[in-house]
Amino acid sequence: MKRILVTGGAGFIGANFVRLVLDEHPDTFVLNLDVLTYAGNLENLKGYTDNPIHVFVKGDICDADLVANLIDEHKIEAIVNFAAESHVDRSLVEPGVFIETNVKGTLTLLKIALDKKLERFLQVSTDEVYGSLGADGFFTETTPLSPNSPYSASKASADMLVAAFGHSWGLPYNITRCSNNYGPFQFPEKMIPLMINNALNDKALPIYGDGLYVRDWLYVYDHCTAIWNVLTQARAGTIYNIGGNNEKTNLEVVRLILDRLNKPESLIRHVKDRPGHDRRYAIDSSKVMRELGWKPTVTFEEGINKTIDWYLANTDWLNHVVSGQYQQYYEDMYSGR
Ligand code: NAD
Ligand code: TYD
Repeated sequence: MKRILVTGGAGFIGANFVRLVLDEHPDTFVLNLDVLTYAGNLENLKGYTDNPIHVFVKGDICDADLVANLIDEHKIEAIVNFAAESHVDRSLVEPGVFIETNVKGTLTLLKIALDKKLERFLQVSTDEVYGSLGADGFFTETTPLSPNSPYSASKASADMLVAAFGHSWGLPYNITRCSNNYGPFQFPEKMIPLMINNALNDKALPIYGDGLYVRDWLYVYDHCTAIWNVLTQARAGTIYNIGGNNEKTNLEVVRLILDRLNKPESLIRHVKDRPGHDRRYAIDSSKVMRELGWKPTVTFEEGINKTIDWYLANTDWLNHVVSGQYQQYYEDMYSGR
């Protein structure tokens, strides 16, 4: 597949994926469709936009006419769908837009992919569709879907629609379900960049509840290489879990960040918990490793160091994204907690 439509390619993971494709697979043409919500940022693509193999279009995945025309115009062969509302906390405040983009937007893309007989539809999903684990065990590809937040419910709905298009009409699809990502260009509403930003500014680090919630962290570059392998090697109709085998409690992660930045642990502040907070996520990635030869390139310790270095070297990027709307978001989310 040489001509792909990447949706949400100005967001955190999408932009990292576009960069990977242009850097490492320059025989691929990328059409990047992103509506540029608060999370979409053309600065994430700096140095990559003025390029004959990467065309950026500002637009909505729910706009069927626009998407269909773009696919014809650019002779697109496959779609990689990153576009989404992606933050659990926001979904607990305003779930409607999660249904619009994550469910209806995906449905719009699916209909067009079928109509245009595209070679592949790759849905970028999340381990959160499986719900929450207790102290033991891992999510596998056959774990039943049991989403708990409006965000994960919208992603599970989209996954089911994708599989239904495959089952009913033979749409050649893949679904990837990845654990928590971290790395360059992540918007500082998510835990790791929020904590780095607060620590850099000597602000309190808000830990929800007891801080013993566990996430299985994966460096974003490694997620992107897995998606590339699935896109280029996987059989149609297959689902792959992707994870780093890096389970950490939130407190462990925050302590590492403080240590690396030479900041005191007294900055940690336990605040009111997230409603319905999933206790633990952990991914069994053996299928993608065995079948597609994928493996992560960095350990968590290496990845977090690279990430902190990136935020230290890119204070302009950080200052731009935390100005304006972000201040209001932060005020609304954390005051009174
Ligand atoms: P993000 O919020 O940083 O980026 C989402 C991008 O989608 C933004 O650029 C935004 O402008 C764009 N977008 C939103 N609505 C759109 C619409 N209607 N039309 C076109 N573009 C639209 O999210 P992210 O963290 O990069 O996540 C990307 C994908 O990966 C999502 O589908 C998410 O569910 C999935 N995922 C994320 C993680 C994680 O840890 N961040 C883990 C597993 C899976
Ligand atoms: P987040 O980055 O929002 O990802 P997700 O909820 O999709 O896993 O949160 C990661 C973990 O960090 C999760 O257990 C919630 C917790 N968290 C905090 O304790 N404080 C915060 O300010 C944020 C944003 C998250």
